[in-house]
Amino acid sequence: EERKSKHLAVSTNMSESGHMVSIYDTLYTLFEKAIIEAYPDLTDPPVVISSSNNPKFGDYQCNSALPLCKLLGSASQGKKVSPREIADKIILKVASSPLVEKLEVAGAGFINIYLKREFGQAILANILKHGKVLSPPVVQKRRILVDFSSPNVAKEMHVGHLRSTIIGDSIARLLEFLGHDVLRINHIGDWGTQFGMLIAHLEDKFPNYTTESPPISDLQSFYKESKVRFDEDEEFKKRAYACVVKLQAHEPKYIQAWKLICDVSRKEFQSIYNRLDIKLIERGESFYHSRMKDIVKELEEKNFLEEDEGRKIMWGENREGIPLTIVKRDGGFTYDTSDMAAIKHRIVEEKAEWVIYVVDAGQATHFQIMESCARRARIVLSCHNIDFVGFGVVLGEDKKKFKTRSGDTVKLSQLLDEGLKRAEQKLMEKERDKVLTKEEFNKAKESIAYGCIKYADLCHNRNHDYVFSFDKMTEDKGNTAVYLLYALTRIRSIARTANVSREEMQEAIGKTPISLEHEKEWKLAKVLLKFPDVILKITKDLCLHTLCELCYEIACAFTEFYDNCYCVEKNQTGEIVKVNMGRILLTEVTAMMLEQCFALLGLKPVEKM
Ligand code: ARG
Repeated sequence: EERKSKHLAVSTNMSESGHMVSIYDTLYTLFEKAIIEAYPDLTDPPVVISSSNNPKFGDYQCNSALPLCKLLGSASQGKKVSPREIADKIILKVASSPLVEKLEVAGAGFINIYLKREFGQAILANILKHGKVLSPPVVQKRRILVDFSSPNVAKEMHVGHLRSTIIGDSIARLLEFLGHDVLRINHIGDWGTQFGMLIAHLEDKFPNYTTESPPISDLQSFYKESKVRFDEDEEFKKRAYACVVKLQAHEPKYIQAWKLICDVSRKEFQSIYNRLDIKLIERGESFYHSRMKDIVKELEEKNFLEEDEGRKIMWGENREGIPLTIVKRDGGFTYDTSDMAAIKHRIVEEKAEWVIYVVDAGQATHFQIMESCARRARIVLSCHNIDFVGFGVVLGEDKKKFKTRSGDTVKLSQLLDEGLKRAEQKLMEKERDKVLTKEEFNKAKESIAYGCIKYADLCHNRNHDYVFSFDKMTEDKGNTAVYLLYALTRIRSIARTANVSREEMQEAIGKTPISLEHEKEWKLAKVLLKFPDVILKITKDLCLHTLCELCYEIACAFTEFYDNCYCVEKNQTGEIVKVNMGRILLTEVTAMMLEQCFALLGLKPVEKM
């Protein structure tokens, strides 16, 4: 009686829960309890749970016996026990769980875990009932600041910034999905010494810029021109320096010139963000100008600054690596100063509990030392998390740094244009222009183009360099956005061709169980059930390629299912005579899951393509 009511409690709990159960967490807790019960004398015993790649070894495995054996042996408990005996002992202590069908010991003490289909069914049915893919339970909602994209004014926004933009956006989307309070911050380089020469050049070329807006549509060539003068003309150089001083002293005319230049850049950046559907709050280095003075004062008063050949430097906690330069010889501030001011603002004023920097791997040391200094100064405390999310370089197909044929950096707008062109070619190859309306065609084109560029970036381990190849990313086989976007439209079309209306689907959700009897159905379901675990893992390592791998796994498992299981039965004339609603529901939940994954990756599915 008691057992039965307990079981019932769990299942109602589950189906009403607004979250999706994490299999890994559930198994972890279950086995942790069992192991502690079996070996009460051990503190912190090893709990090793992994999903199995081979159905012969169950769906998941608990591989604690081996490390436990070593631990017991080294503790010289006297008698020798084998891993198998340990595994047997653990199994006896595992409480009954609605999640587990059966356990078995294999090989050298591996415990194979088989999941219960009813449980999987209930979790997936819960998604259908809620009409959305539910997030895994998050113990603690946090205020998180993600610093990403962050290009520099007048200098080009290059592929490195594109990586930061794509990765940062996806991380922010994932944390928002989990219910965290996320601030998306664009730390634009808008206060550097480059402004001296830009303003000096502006004054010469467009002297009446205060009354008339100068036509600098191409800030990059404007930057290049001024740089040439700066390097060749001593007189100009002096004036440029003087301009920086006046700008930093907030002289109105210089501020106006600075604003003008920033506006041109901002428009360019914004058009990229609009095309890629990226939301960001601009808070450039200039924002911290007065706060830089404050932080210098604070660090000085607390005796953290040291003299070094006229500079003021600060060492990290163990005087490791290199120090930050807080004040330059000429009294000016640096990138280091602005980051110290920024971290203080983020922690103290924004009340961020977790700050994530998405910047190329080349800046790893800068952020390491910056964090170390901020901890040393007790701006960042042990309750705060600081994460540096680095990424590798973008390479061309020749495996060298990504450049145009003439050796220039690739303009991002041109790169996106090229993507659109490739997507259009792809659709024309498939003669989609004959089937789709103009509007549908354009939607599909954008979805493919931007989807491919984002996905190609996200599906690689971000720590590695990656080769940017339009040919590769637009292939319609393999782990690409094109393949996945097509897979989703195909899945979505199944219910449509079966003539199942929204209403019928809605009605079936409460009544018909999701079909999970067939081996391929169950296999697909088990892939879908991994979703919460993949998400939770990403919150730890901030590596999004595992989510891409899940998408691909879902698409492949779906194909296998669809090849083996009929969703509808047709007669000789091709008329539909029977609809297998349980399978249509499995199809529906698969589509919802893929859509949710796409939303996290910033891909936009289209109804038709
Ligand atoms: N603007 C810098 C660059 O282009 C990136 C800024 C990253 N964020 C930061 N808080 N430093 O390299």
